[in-house]
Amino acid sequence: MEHKVTDAEFYRIFAIITIIIVALSIFIAILSNVFAGYSTSADDNYKAELQELTHQRTEPIGKINLASNPVIKQEIQIAKVEKMSLSGEEAYNSVCMSCHTSGAAGAPMIGNSSQWTDRMAKGKETLYSNAINGIGIMPAKGGVATLSDDEVKAAVDYILSKN
Ligand code: HEC
Repeated sequence: MEHKVTDAEFYRIFAIITIIIVALSIFIAILSNVFAGYSTSADDNYKAELQELTHQRTEPIGKINLASNPVIKQEIQIAKVEKMSLSGEEAYNSVCMSCHTSGAAGAPMIGNSSQWTDRMAKGKETLYSNAINGIGIMPAKGGVATLSDDEVKAAVDYILSKN
């Protein structure tokens, strides 16, 4: 006996097939999305890796520190040079020695106490100010204006310590 497909059965089957087709197309869409990222060329798949390796091998080993290069400007450090204060001995050796070791121009010689007794009697402060401001032939600060007052005083102390 032949089975007759009723309308209700037809619609049920039709609905099931429609759902299967829709589900299948969604599945295919997802799959194609996943595989779209892959290339058929093996090189392309490792492109990022290859680029990274090439970058590593060709990396520069150093940088030239050019002041004109704005990229590395911040790496340039400018040392702040503070003026170092000379010690009494240093000031003496660089400035006062020329006259006070030889006695040039009638300068009282270092270590020759007899030439200093009268001067010492004037008091240290007078000697300081005369050395700073100059006295007789001796120019102010021995002619070197860049010496600070303290450096000159230290040099006087150094001279007196040698007598
Ligand atoms: C160009 C040579 C010359 C130089 C450089 C020189 N002196 Fe003299 N100095 C003299 C002479 C000359 C006198 C003696 C001046 C006088 O009594 O008329 C003298 C005197 C002095 C006196 C004695 C001042 C006094 O009141 O009797 C002191 C202290 C002195 N010098 C310190 C120094 C010191 C410190 C320096 C270095 C910073 C220095 N001198 C550099 C030539 C020099």
